[in-house]
Amino acid sequence: MEKSYSKLLENNKKWVKERTDSDPDYFTNLAKGQSPEYLWIGCSDSRVPANEVTGTRPGEMFVHRNIANMVVNTDLNLLSVLAYAVDVLKVKHVIVCGHYGCGGVQAAMGDKQYGLIDHWLGNIKNVYRMHATELDAIDNSNERFRRFVELNVIEQVADLRKTTIVQNAWKRGQNLHIHGWVYDIADGILKDLDVTYRNAEEMHQVYQFS
Ligand code: CO
Repeated sequence: MEKSYSKLLENNKKWVKERTDSDPDYFTNLAKGQSPEYLWIGCSDSRVPANEVTGTRPGEMFVHRNIANMVVNTDLNLLSVLAYAVDVLKVKHVIVCGHYGCGGVQAAMGDKQYGLIDHWLGNIKNVYRMHATELDAIDNSNERFRRFVELNVIEQVADLRKTTIVQNAWKRGQNLHIHGWVYDIADGILKDLDVTYRNAEEMHQVYQFS
C-alpha cells in the first residue's frame, strides 16, 4: 500500500526530468501565468482525464470536475470557476463533457439510496423527468442509459446559457462558445453533440436577461 502511494512521488520526479530535459524553461514559462482557451466541465470519473483525452498540456485548459459533470446553479464552486474562466481568463470555449458508462447518471436512473449523493443525483433525475417520454420509449436499457448521458450533457449546456455569467459575456461582445460533448470510455472517442451556442437567442424568453 505504501508503495502505490510513494510511486506517485517517484513518477513526479521522472515527469519533471522529462519536461526539463526537452525544455529547460518549461516550468519557468508556466510560472509566468496562464491564459487557457478552454474551460472543461467534466465528470470526476478517473477514466476521463481532461488533458489526456484532449491532448492539451498544462496551461491550456481550465478544469472543473464533479460527479456527472453537472452545472448546478447553487454550486458556488462551479459558479466561481465559470466566472473566473469567463470574466478573468476570457476562455473562448466552455465544454461540458459527459461520458458513457457514467456511474452518477446510472445511479440517477435507479431507485437505490446512496446517501448524501442522492441530493446531487436529484438534479440528474430532473433531466430524466424532462425527457421521460423519449427515454421511456427506448426498450434497450443500455441504449436508454447512453441517451440519458447525452441528454444530461445537453441540459447542462442549456443551464450554462441560463447563467448571467455567460449571458453578460455575450452582451459585452465577448467571443464565447459553449459546447456539449460525450466521451466513450470503451473506445476513447469524443463525440460532439452539436449543441454549440454563441448567443442567448432562441432560448426561452423566461431565461433571457435584459
Ligand atoms: Co461519470
